[in-house]
Amino acid sequence: TEPAGHGGGDLRFSPVPPNREDIVKVPDGYQTSVVVRWGDPVLPDAPAFDFDNQTAEAQAKQFGYNCDYVTLFERGRNKGLLWVNHEYTDEVLMFRGYSAANPTEEQIKIALEAHGGSVVEIERVRGGGEWKLVTKGRRRYNRRITAKTPMRFTGPAAGHDLLKTAADPEGRKPVGMLNNCGGGTTPWGTVLTAEENFDQYFINGSAANPNTARYGIPTGVPSGSRRFDKVEERFDLAKHPNEVNRFGWMVEIDPFDPESTPIKRTALGRFKHEAATTSISNDGHLVVYMGDDSRFEYIYRFVSKNRYIQGHDRHNRTLLDEGTLYVAKFTGDSPKEEIDGSGKLPKDGAFDGSGEWIPLVSGEKSHVPGMSAAEVLIFTRTAADKVGATKMDRPEDVEPNPVTGAVYVALTNNSNRTAAQVDEANPRPSNKHGHILEIVEDRGTRFAWSLPLVCGDPNDPTTYFAGYDKTKVSPISCPDNLAFDRDGNLWISTDGNALGTNDGLFVMPVRGRERGYVRQFLTVPLGAETCGPLITNDQRSVFVAVQHPGEIDGATPDKPASRWPDGDQPRPSVAVAWHSRGGKIGS
Ligand code: FEO
Ligand code: CA
Ligand code: CA
Ligand code: CA
Repeated sequence: TEPAGHGGGDLRFSPVPPNREDIVKVPDGYQTSVVVRWGDPVLPDAPAFDFDNQTAEAQAKQFGYNCDYVTLFERGRNKGLLWVNHEYTDEVLMFRGYSAANPTEEQIKIALEAHGGSVVEIERVRGGGEWKLVTKGRRRYNRRITAKTPMRFTGPAAGHDLLKTAADPEGRKPVGMLNNCGGGTTPWGTVLTAEENFDQYFINGSAANPNTARYGIPTGVPSGSRRFDKVEERFDLAKHPNEVNRFGWMVEIDPFDPESTPIKRTALGRFKHEAATTSISNDGHLVVYMGDDSRFEYIYRFVSKNRYIQGHDRHNRTLLDEGTLYVAKFTGDSPKEEIDGSGKLPKDGAFDGSGEWIPLVSGEKSHVPGMSAAEVLIFTRTAADKVGATKMDRPEDVEPNPVTGAVYVALTNNSNRTAAQVDEANPRPSNKHGHILEIVEDRGTRFAWSLPLVCGDPNDPTTYFAGYDKTKVSPISCPDNLAFDRDGNLWISTDGNALGTNDGLFVMPVRGRERGYVRQFLTVPLGAETCGPLITNDQRSVFVAVQHPGEIDGATPDKPASRWPDGDQPRPSVAVAWHSRGGKIGS
């Protein structure tokens, strides 16, 4: 149904101006609080956080580091299970006197336990938009998943020789997940969490194997390596060459079953997964949109072979194991000479065109010459190279609009694209500020696309805000995570703001006369990126993950660059913001 108004969904808040404040700053009339911080107890028997005496045993039961993707499974009006990814660790901020050249064994073990994800029970405060951690009672759903949690593979590549190791000769039981960045949920109430930059945890990759370079896996021992191999030999690829093939997957986790084994779904391919958003196609198939977040990487789509059946849980839980994995190719509709590297709009007034989903693999059948189905799934980047997919400016989150069905992609930036390499879908050379891509699916494998937003300072002539009055919009740089409210407004969080101010959360209507009217809703503390975001079903609360506060070159525990949230050492945390009088977020 169409919301009231003009497609803008009644967004009337006063935007937060760009700033360098060490707080979570929200518009007038809004409040914010911290829900859960690095080190807070997750399991009921976890010890209290003690920065100077942290142990691996404590960390295994406490909230992990660098919270990223956030989702909430609401249970009734006042309770919920919050899922949060823990993407990576900042040892230099976590440990006083940390030596990257010589980390202690305990520091390495703490880092392994600080990765992964958390399920925590939360509850609404006094019926309003504020939520807090449940800190008493049984908390039966609370769970930590770490780099050491036993998992399993399913789908066409499970059990393949390339996934077998000495510890798992069947190639079906990987251990742990790493660098879980974005994510999504399934219609049956589970989490999909994306393993992104898994390469950085390994040493001694084989230089003779072309997939080593294609996935950026170190061939020696890079300086700054966390040296996980010193406590778990499997991270040394000279000894266990296939271990790295067991990372880089989409992991499905059931937050309602604390005993369940997380599943690495091989049918969704292996790359530096950023996110996975599901939707049901008009003809009933489950569709998963995914980005591969590196410069010049691709956008993917998975379509299940079988149809989703409402309420048939056992059937639905097989859908992610069989289907077709596609990669996107974008064609511009303007003459090539008008996409000239100046960043100026072409004569037809839009960066737009048509596109095609190119099939890579369907179940056991490969569509890529010279590669088996399992090889396509394990070395998906290499497969996509062979079919002429379009190299994008770091595809991060991909999110369908629940109101219109159009699909939006955050392309964060790409400092390496040259003027000779621009195309209509990636039209700016050395793209510092990124852009947003809109895809309107046709039947089958065709789609139309356009760029509603080319980010940056609105005074920069290469920016584009869907034709909206640029004197009214907020500057925006480096879009990363996306979310929609129920009115169909696009919420955009940023990572790496190249305009010199703090990262934040923005909203942009995508329909009506306010299409392109970008406004900043919130900013995060110094050195942090904004992750999540998540707007509750009643639209009264927005959750953001404040990732890596204080991550600024030269900062250490003795010289912190942020003191958020406690006025002491910075702690990555999930925050919630709400309207003081109970209004909708953005009103
Ligand atoms: Fe972990 Fe692509 O951001
Ligand atoms: Ca991200
Ligand atoms: Ca055009
Ligand atoms: Ca990012």
